[in-house]
Amino acid sequence: MRKLAAGNWKMNGTQSDLAQITQIGAAFDAASVDILICPPAQLLIPAVTASPHVAIGAQDCHANASGAHTGDLSAPQIRDTGATYVIVGHSERRTDHGETDATVNAKAAAAVDAGLIAIICIGETLQDRDNGATLNVLAQQLTGSVPALATAQNTVIAYEPVWAIGTGLIPTLDQIAQAHAFIREHLTAQLGATAADMRLLYGGSVKGSNAADIFAVPHVDGALVGGASLTAQDFAPIITALQNA
Ligand code: 13P
Repeated sequence: MRKLAAGNWKMNGTQSDLAQITQIGAAFDAASVDILICPPAQLLIPAVTASPHVAIGAQDCHANASGAHTGDLSAPQIRDTGATYVIVGHSERRTDHGETDATVNAKAAAAVDAGLIAIICIGETLQDRDNGATLNVLAQQLTGSVPALATAQNTVIAYEPVWAIGTGLIPTLDQIAQAHAFIREHLTAQLGATAADMRLLYGGSVKGSNAADIFAVPHVDGALVGGASLTAQDFAPIITALQNA
């Protein structure tokens, strides 16, 4: 499988930041891994042409293809921009917008139906971890959020412990290994053989300084990076570490 270095810009970035995408593409014009940036929605169209070497994705989509849903974007609309990926079920969407596993499942299915690759986010809270409930929570989120039509080609899973996002905290490498092995096993039971090649990303405070260690963990096939994806300078070492993994 081709590994994936994905950046989630969240609610950051204006037109002047498109140059970061161009710079990343120029630095990795023959990359051995896939490179993806998910900018805020207003930048999708210009981002698609910023570099031929960087794929572009959205950060959310509606479950319906069209209709009376003010402020939302549908998966076919996102596909129409030239974007090829969409993140669904990020913990910030689950928290800020009350998205449930059922919502995320419907969005992921809509994304795949529209020809997009869905990046489905899961991850435990600190309270879940302290309660020893991490693997139960991951099992519940996978069962609920990953649609039956998911394959290695149309779906990516991002494991993002909520407590590691934007905090500078990361799980131990053993904790990451345990979570990723569990996710692979659970997906195999849920989806069958296609799960073997499905890309599993780690997300949460990934930086140039810790990327190589994280990418050496079994079943870590890339990263979903927030803050350290906002500039080419910060994102480049993470891509390099993934290429060298
Ligand atoms: P940070 O890399 O800023 O911790 O964010 C991770 C994340 O939420 C990516 O989706």
